[in-house]
Amino acid sequence: MGFKENFLWGGATAANQIEGAYLEDGKGLSVYDIVTVGSHTNPRLITPKIDEEHFYPSRISIDHYHRYKEDIALFAEMGFKAYRFSISWARIFPNGDDEQPNEKGLEFYENVFKELKKYNIEPVVTISHSDIPLAIATKFNGWTNEKVIDLYVKYAKTLFERYEQYVTYWLPFNEINNLFLPLSALGQGAIFPKEECTFQGQADDFETRMKALKNIFLASAKAVKEGRKINSKFHFGTMICHITRYPRTCHPDDVLAVFKNDLLYNNTCADIMLKGEYPFYTLKELEKRGVDINLTEEDKTTLKEGICDYYTFSYYQSISESTLKFDEQTSGNIMGGIKNPYLKETEWDWPIDPVGLRYTLLKVYDRYKVPVMITENGIGCRDVLNEDGTINDPYRVEYIKDHLIEMQKAIDDGVDLIGYMAWGCIDLVSVSTGEMKKRYGFIYVDTDDLGNGSFKRYKKDSFYWYKKVIESNGENL
Ligand code: BG6
Repeated sequence: MGFKENFLWGGATAANQIEGAYLEDGKGLSVYDIVTVGSHTNPRLITPKIDEEHFYPSRISIDHYHRYKEDIALFAEMGFKAYRFSISWARIFPNGDDEQPNEKGLEFYENVFKELKKYNIEPVVTISHSDIPLAIATKFNGWTNEKVIDLYVKYAKTLFERYEQYVTYWLPFNEINNLFLPLSALGQGAIFPKEECTFQGQADDFETRMKALKNIFLASAKAVKEGRKINSKFHFGTMICHITRYPRTCHPDDVLAVFKNDLLYNNTCADIMLKGEYPFYTLKELEKRGVDINLTEEDKTTLKEGICDYYTFSYYQSISESTLKFDEQTSGNIMGGIKNPYLKETEWDWPIDPVGLRYTLLKVYDRYKVPVMITENGIGCRDVLNEDGTINDPYRVEYIKDHLIEMQKAIDDGVDLIGYMAWGCIDLVSVSTGEMKKRYGFIYVDTDDLGNGSFKRYKKDSFYWYKKVIESNGENL
């Protein structure tokens, strides 16, 4: 069987990780503009105010804002059929609650769309990739405040109306389920630190996160409803950070614990966005933890009226969990878990598990029965730029190839897989560490963790390999 004829081969990025130009043409600050560079062993800092002593990677990132034409031409050279990127909310509404959108910001993305159209590359647009305007975090306490629902719907409608002719595939929120993790509260402005703290050491409050999440679901549903009124050809997708979980042992307690974590972390958000209602297990869990999200009848109707129609997810790794005590806790992996003796790990301790992708594809297709798209997958590695301008990255080819083989098998199993967007198709700033040296791209960008370098783009070996994969529609791996 293999990949469909019109399979969407491509790559993915996010605004705050590539654009730079952090205050140019009227852009306001985003929450990630106040997060410093860190490393695998040294956590990033969130500094509520800009502190000139620190380096903030999103200020310049890979300078895509000024180089988008060159970058898109390189994507086209690889034969991309689709490109997933996000719009920076703070470029369109710099203060979050501005009366009028910032025309310069709208123009920038319009130019990006025109460039993509030139090469027949289908855009897949993330409306909010975990980087709300800083002003929304400070003035409104981010998504904890229900007023932010209307601000988001206004922002989304502005995009739908302006870019209607260019876009079919929209993603209202990136990795929406990460609000089940304390780490992601910042990106949604839900818990905004008053004082400097480490990225990993942010204050946490489960109840606040769950209330913020409810507002996000309502905002998504309202935006989807409005979007469909504007153009019925629009498709709206979930975007789930799918952390595939395995029980570390066959102890029944382990199996049960993993099953429950899976329901809560992986399934809750997609269940709500695709079925239009809070699942019973999540409502019960909230009740058990004493959290009242005040879900009204009106909220329930809103959720039903704005359901998505395709399932997308990011997949990098699986994790193993146990109720028993194991010594081999994976230290650097922000998702936690215990070392899986059957899997190798990346330098950043992320387990590499291609078979887990097939398992995940089957699991989600069986559950939702809607078209599925992989909107992020890839491996972060240290690459070396040789003197002759080449970059040899066989490890990246191996990682992606092994995942593509498992995708093929999942298609043969009957999964309706419509696209694959390799994460960080061009090197970009890492979210978890703020580093540039954790590279995902087929295209190397000559800059380091402190923003030094020529910013010149170089084609890695994987660039030529991926081009052949696309040319042969996945036959030539
Ligand atoms: C996903 C995010 O969680 O993982 C991306 O959507 C992120 O924005 C990617 O870059 C990889 O994580 P990291 O920490 O290696 O950048």
